[in-house]
Amino acid sequence: MVRALTQDSSGWDALEVRDVPDPVPREGQVLVQVHAAGVNPYDWHYAAGQPLIARPTLGGLTGPRPPVRGADLSGIVAAVGPGVTAFAPGDEVFGFGASGTFAELALAAVDRISRRPAELTHVEAAAVPMAAVTALQFLRAAGLTAGQRLAITGAGGGIGHFAVQIATAWGAQVTGVCSTRNAAMVRELGASDVVDYTREDFTAGGRRFDVVFTNAGRYPVRELGRVVVPGGVVLTNDGSKEGLLGPMPDLVAAPLVARFRPYRVVNVSATESGEDLAVLAGMVADGALLPIVSATYPLDHAVDAIRQVAGSGHARGKLVVKLV
Ligand SMILES: NC(=O)c1ccc[n+]([C@@H]2O[C@H](COP(=O)([O-])OP(=O)(O)OC[C@H]3O[C@@H](n4cnc5c(N)ncnc54)[C@H](OP(=O)(O)O)[C@@H]3O)[C@@H](O)[C@H]2O)c1
Repeated sequence: MVRALTQDSSGWDALEVRDVPDPVPREGQVLVQVHAAGVNPYDWHYAAGQPLIARPTLGGLTGPRPPVRGADLSGIVAAVGPGVTAFAPGDEVFGFGASGTFAELALAAVDRISRRPAELTHVEAAAVPMAAVTALQFLRAAGLTAGQRLAITGAGGGIGHFAVQIATAWGAQVTGVCSTRNAAMVRELGASDVVDYTREDFTAGGRRFDVVFTNAGRYPVRELGRVVVPGGVVLTNDGSKEGLLGPMPDLVAAPLVARFRPYRVVNVSATESGEDLAVLAGMVADGALLPIVSATYPLDHAVDAIRQVAGSGHARGKLVVKLV
């Protein structure tokens, strides 16, 4: 048996650390001894069962599936499933779990993990997968090129702080939108300009951008014409998280509104990609990417970490559950 943060039904009260049977790797999977597991708003959606319209996909009447929370991991391969040759017991890996990762052992598909960068601790590596892969795939979808001007909201959060670094490495000119306490960090990560949204609306100051990446804050697409140049791109990755529909109205309206605007609107549903993890590991090795982990939590307090990421909406960098 292994200890894990489980959830058998909807609601925060159902979250419980208890013993569950050891997961058994199937074909194409490895079993990982989890050393650390990153925390994401994804975990909050499951824990809170929000937005309500998504509840059937969050577990419906039978409770969340999988029943163990956590999506990101860094750890050591403990066993491999049938047919697995790419990894062997003892290999240090990071990536996406196929079973919940807030657990001492978790499964992972071989095409959704990569070798842990030697430069990173397990805690740092566990901060990377979902947030950094999402940042990478959004910026790629925008076709961001060197010299372009990019604004990133939520620049101090999980996705945002990776996006600042990736865009800077690609030669873009980054404006980070964040709160006062994150301004210095965002600048240190590469942003040449920082807008403190508690004091200034970045859409109102006469700035112009080739790409705007909205990870947080309510910035309706129809209002971004003030800051996006004709032919530019709006990357929409924000929206309210609670209520009946959550971000759905914004997501549905955005492409319709964009039909009448001179800029493209792009939303990406991030793909769990081992290849992209390897790209990010390469950036870490080159010194272009460093996860900022603002706090670690023991498994017994993983629920507190989940409440922080999306409940308050003001997590700084990444939060990580440390198991070893
Ligand atoms: N499309 C996909 O496939 C995909 C994948 C993963 C996540 N997501 C979504 O992406 C969003 C961001 O995720 P995340 O992991 O980066 O979340 P996070 O780590 O919780 O970061 C959110 C950040 O937003 C900042 N913020 C809050 N209000 C703001 C405002 N009005 N203006 C600017 N910044 C503000 C907060 O910092 P301050 O203290 O500075 O306010 C916080 O650091 C979530 O809604 C998540 O569900 C989408």
